[in-house]
Amino acid sequence: MIDCLRGLLRPVFSAPGAAALVALALTAGAAAQTVPASTPPAAPAAPAAPAAPAATVPVSSMSSRVLACTACHGKEGRATPDGYFPRIAGKPAGYLANQLLNFRDGRRSYPQMTYLIEHLTDDYLREMAEHFAALDLPYPPPPAPQAPAAVLEQGRKLVQGGDVARNIPACVACHGAAMTGVTPSIPGLLGLPRDYLNSQLGAWKTGQRGAHLPDCMADIARQLTPDDVSAVSAWLAAQPVAAGGKPARTLPAAMPARCGGVAEVPVAAAAAR
Ligand code: HEC
Ligand code: HEC
Repeated sequence: MIDCLRGLLRPVFSAPGAAALVALALTAGAAAQTVPASTPPAAPAAPAAPAAPAATVPVSSMSSRVLACTACHGKEGRATPDGYFPRIAGKPAGYLANQLLNFRDGRRSYPQMTYLIEHLTDDYLREMAEHFAALDLPYPPPPAPQAPAAVLEQGRKLVQGGDVARNIPACVACHGAAMTGVTPSIPGLLGLPRDYLNSQLGAWKTGQRGAHLPDCMADIARQLTPDDVSAVSAWLAAQPVAAGGKPARTLPAAMPARCGGVAEVPVAAAAAR
C-alpha cells in the first residue's frame, strides 16, 4: 500500500491531469538545482542568494499531493486523539517543516514515512508543511484521563512548573501557557494521543528522536524518569485544547534553554551561551 501512496505523492510517475502540474513543479525544482552546469556564470558569483520564493502551488495539485499523507494522518491531517498517528493540521509551519527534514535526513525514524519523502526537496517539503499549518480545523474533546489522580497531578506540576531541583524547566516556558506552541517552530503539546507523547519522550531519552542542535528536548527528556514521562503524557493527553489550538505568536519571557531550529524565539541570557 505504501508504494501506491508514494505514487500519489509523486504524481510524476502516475496519470496526467491535475497531477501534471505537480510533476511540472517537481521538475522545475529539480532543474533549478542543476542548471549551473549549462548556464553561463552570472556576473560576479553572488553570495548565496536567499532561495527564490517557492512558486505558489495550485490548491488542487496540493490536495492531490498530500492525499498520501492523509491515509495515516487522517482526513485533512486532523487525526483523532485515539490511536497513534499525530495530527498535523494547524501546527506551526516551521515545526512541521523541521520534522519533515528530520524524517528525511534521519534524525527521526518512521520508515514508512521516510520512504515517502526521502527524495523530496526542502522546498517541496516546506510547501507541504505550509499547507497543513494553514488548515484551521476544530479539535475533538480530549479522551477521559487514563491515570489515577495522583499521577495526573504529578504530570500537571511538571508541565506547569518543572522541577528546579532536577533541572527540569517548566514545559509551558517554551510550549506556551496555553500549551498550543509558538509560531513558527515550537509545537503545541495538546490534542496528541497519550501513546504518541510517551513514545516521543521515550525516543528522545534513548536517542531515537533527534532535532536540530542544540537538541533541548533531548536534554529535558533525559532528566525525566519513566514515571515522569507517563505522568506528563497522561495529563497532557487529557487536557482540552484552548483557543482553537492556535499557536501563540510570542512567549511572555525568554526560553530557558537554546533549541536548534527555533532561531526566532529569545533565549534567557543564562542559557544563551
Ligand atoms: C504510513 C503512515 C504515514 C504516512 C503515509 C505519513 N505519515 Fe507522517 N507520521 C506517521 C507517524 C506514525 C508519525 C509519528 C512517527 C514517530 O513516532 O515519530 C508521523 C509523523 C509526522 C510528522 C511529525 C508530527 C509531529 O507532531 O511531530 C509530520 C509533520 C508528518 N508525519 C507529515 C507527513 C506528511 C506531510 C506526509 C505525506 C507526505 C505523511 N506524514 C505521511 C505516519 C505516516
Ligand atoms: C527550552 C524550550 C523547551 C522546553 C522547556 C520544553 N520543550 Fe518540548 N519542545 C521544544 C522544541 C523546540 C520542540 C521541537 C523540537 C523539534 O523540532 O523536533 C519540542 C518538542 C516537544 C515534543 C514533540 C511534539 C510532537 O508533536 O511531536 C514534545 C512531546 C515535547 N516537546 C514535550 C515537552 C515536555 C513534556 C516538556 C516539559 C517537561 C517540554 N517539552 C519542555 C522546546 C522545549
